[in-house]
Amino acid sequence: MVNFLSVAHVVTLIAVAAASPLARHQSDPSPSGFNSNTNASPALKAALTGAASYNDRQAILFTEPPDATNITFTFINNTVTDGTGGTIALSTVNNFPALIGTEVAMAVGFVNPCGLNVPHSHPRANEFLTVIQGKLVAGLVLELNDGGSGHVVGQPAPVNGPVPQVNVTLSNYTGMLFPQGETHFQFNPTCEPALFAAAFDSSDPGRTQIARNFFSNMPDDMLITAMGSDLEVLDAKRIARFRDNIPTSFAVIMEEFDSAGDSQGYLSQEDRAQF
Ligand SMILES: *[C@@H]1O[C@H](CO)[C@@H](O)[C@H](O)[C@H]1NC(C)=O
Ligand SMILES: *[C@@H]1O[C@H](CO)[C@@H](O)[C@H](O)[C@H]1NC(C)=O
Ligand SMILES: *[C@@H]1O[C@H](CO)[C@@H](O)[C@H](O)[C@H]1NC(C)=O
Ligand SMILES: *[C@@H]1O[C@H](CO)[C@@H](O)[C@H](O)[C@H]1NC(C)=O
Repeated sequence: MVNFLSVAHVVTLIAVAAASPLARHQSDPSPSGFNSNTNASPALKAALTGAASYNDRQAILFTEPPDATNITFTFINNTVTDGTGGTIALSTVNNFPALIGTEVAMAVGFVNPCGLNVPHSHPRANEFLTVIQGKLVAGLVLELNDGGSGHVVGQPAPVNGPVPQVNVTLSNYTGMLFPQGETHFQFNPTCEPALFAAAFDSSDPGRTQIARNFFSNMPDDMLITAMGSDLEVLDAKRIARFRDNIPTSFAVIMEEFDSAGDSQGYLSQEDRAQF
C-alpha cells in the first residue's frame, strides 16, 4: 500500500488536532480503552483498507468538509489509580483508522512518580520518544552479534552473562530513539509525574513484554534451562509464584531493594537521590 502521509505531515496533523475545538465526540469505544473523538468503526476501517488511491481516501474520510474528525485523535490521561506506574494512550490502526495506509503511530505516556514502563520491544516499529514534562531515565539493551550462535567451529567459545546497555536521563523535550525490535524501558526517578510523546514508523507497532512473554507458557524445565539450570536460583515452585503477577506494562519501582551480593541496584533510594 502507498504511504500517504509522512511523519512531518502527521506531526502537523497532530498539532492541528490539538488546536481544533473537537466539538464532535463519537462514542465508539476504542480497543485500547482510551476515549477519543475518532470514529473507529469496522466499516470505516474496511473502507480505508480497500481504498486504492488518495482520492478514494479523501472520499471516505472527508464527507463533511470542513469537519476533520476522521483525521483527529485525542489522547487522554487515563491514569486513574495512584500506585500503578502510569498509562500509555496509543493511536494505532486499531483505534485510529486514518492511520491505515500510513506508516506512523503515536503514543502519549503518563508516567507516575517512580513508574516503570517495563522492559519491552516493538516488533514492527522504530520508536522516537520525547519527554515533554518531568524526567525519565531511558535504557536500551544492545544486540550482541558475534558472528554465530553456540559453539561455532573456528569462533571463540560463547561468553555467558549480561548484554551491555546504554541509558540516559531525558527531560525538557529531549528525545531518544529505540530501534525496531530492541529491548528498552523508561522509568520516572522523581516524585513528579512525567509526560512523553512517542512516534512510531509503523501504524501497527506492537509491543512485546520481555519478562511476561518469557515466563508465560513454556514448560518449566525449558525456562530453568534457559536461565542457566541452577535450581537453587530458579525452580518450578518459584516460577509458579511469580508467573501470574508479571506486570503488563507499568509498575511502580520497589522502594525496598535488597542490594546484597553483587547486585547493581541502580533503582535503590540512594541512587535515585541523584535525580
Ligand atoms: C468519517 O468517515 C465516515 C466513513 O466514510 C463517514 O461516514 C463520516 O461522515 C466521516 N465523518 C466526517 C466528519 O467526515
Ligand atoms: C495523569 O492523571 C493522574 C491522575 O489524575 C495524575 O495524578 C497525573 O499527574 C497525570 N499526569 C500528568 C502527566 O499530567
Ligand atoms: C546504565 O547502564 C550501566 C551499564 O550497563 C548500568 O550500570 C547502570 O545501572 C544503568 N543505569 C540506568 C539508570 O539504567
Ligand atoms: C527544565 O525546564 C525547567 C523549566 O524551564 C527548568 O526549571 C529546569 O531546570 C529544566 N531542567 C533541566 C534538566 O534542564
